[in-house]
Amino acid sequence: MKRAFPRVGTSRAATAICSLAMVAAAVTALAASASALSRPSVHHTVSISTRSFGTVAGQPVDLYTLSNGHMRVNITNYGGIVQAIYVPDRFGRMANVALGFRNLAGYVKNDVYPQPSGGSGTTYFGATIGRYANRIANGSFTLNGHTYTLPQNNGTNTLHGGPNAWNTKVWTATPSVKPGSASLKLTYTSPDGENGFPGTVVASVTYTLDTSNRLHIQYHAVTSAPTVINLTNHTYFNLAGEGSGSVRAQKLMINASHYTPINANLIPTGVVAPVAGTPLDFRTMKPIGRDINSGFNQLVLAHGFDHNWVINRSGPGLVLAARALDPASGRELTTLTTEPGVQFYSGNFLAGELVGTSGRTYRQTDGFTLETQHYPNSPNQPNFPSTVLNPGQSFNSTTIYAFSIG
Ligand code: GLA
Repeated sequence: MKRAFPRVGTSRAATAICSLAMVAAAVTALAASASALSRPSVHHTVSISTRSFGTVAGQPVDLYTLSNGHMRVNITNYGGIVQAIYVPDRFGRMANVALGFRNLAGYVKNDVYPQPSGGSGTTYFGATIGRYANRIANGSFTLNGHTYTLPQNNGTNTLHGGPNAWNTKVWTATPSVKPGSASLKLTYTSPDGENGFPGTVVASVTYTLDTSNRLHIQYHAVTSAPTVINLTNHTYFNLAGEGSGSVRAQKLMINASHYTPINANLIPTGVVAPVAGTPLDFRTMKPIGRDINSGFNQLVLAHGFDHNWVINRSGPGLVLAARALDPASGRELTTLTTEPGVQFYSGNFLAGELVGTSGRTYRQTDGFTLETQHYPNSPNQPNFPSTVLNPGQSFNSTTIYAFSIG
């Protein structure tokens, strides 16, 4: 049974908003006027505060905090990264449920390619991924008879748009607040030929926190020439709090009867296979760790879960993709999306050398992602839903991460 957050800490929440606003370098928007703040409840108080997060290559970068009086989300315009998500447990105790780094330097260092061998590699904590989320086999695809060659940054694959992709760019930020929601719109223009992809793409990602504890992520993109596009967010969740250890005991349901099996390069074979009878069957909630050590070959290849699930849907629109629950804290995450697939990744490559936001290291299974997406390697798989974007069309996609107490 799903419940809203407990009505604890109303006055504490109000204080938190005030102190946030006070420490903020600039309060860029405050929907709630003084009259709203003076109401007995802060349920409908939304705000955005801004502070400097440093500079990268001489460009200033900010950290924006979206708050609704119950929960708050930190987002930086470097890489469109969700840096932290603070949500209460069933007793109102707050924890940051998103893995990340304390400062900008942490992200920039982890984005340098190539990463030292033996470590976690580029983790893409919280990042906006473009122009093509997940893998393109052999760094190559053919579109309208022309073969495009992309830099290979994951063995022979191109992963998450290649090196120095959208997760490393400084996006233009436009915060706004209206009654009931606080938004941060980030825009980036990807030049024609960037990382080998054709067409200038003008992209935006808009994060909106509403008063029902939903974080909406809306993507929009247009192109000057035929190209391929696949956008996602790469937040790693740990509903017990980042740095608190493994998510193995946290429960997950994925609304998918099928998945796309992979080869040894983590590239889909092209087959769409039933999950029934395999450890990838998450149709009914089960602990993430229950089957993770199974000798099932798909888990051996990926060192755990790192697959694309085909979301059950009967038509276009927002549908339930997944639900995750931490039974100990009660924190629950419901994921809805307009996308056809979701990559559930169990943090298999986290190697224990990265020190996260709370000063603790991240090890294998210390977080999980639910990357809503088109299927990996779609440009080379004609039987997968198309990722082609043509001039005159616009790419639109929405994902909602909704928080509650389960
Ligand atoms: C995605 C991939 C994983 C891994 C992570 C980043 O989730 O599917 O294999 O590369 O990104 O570490």
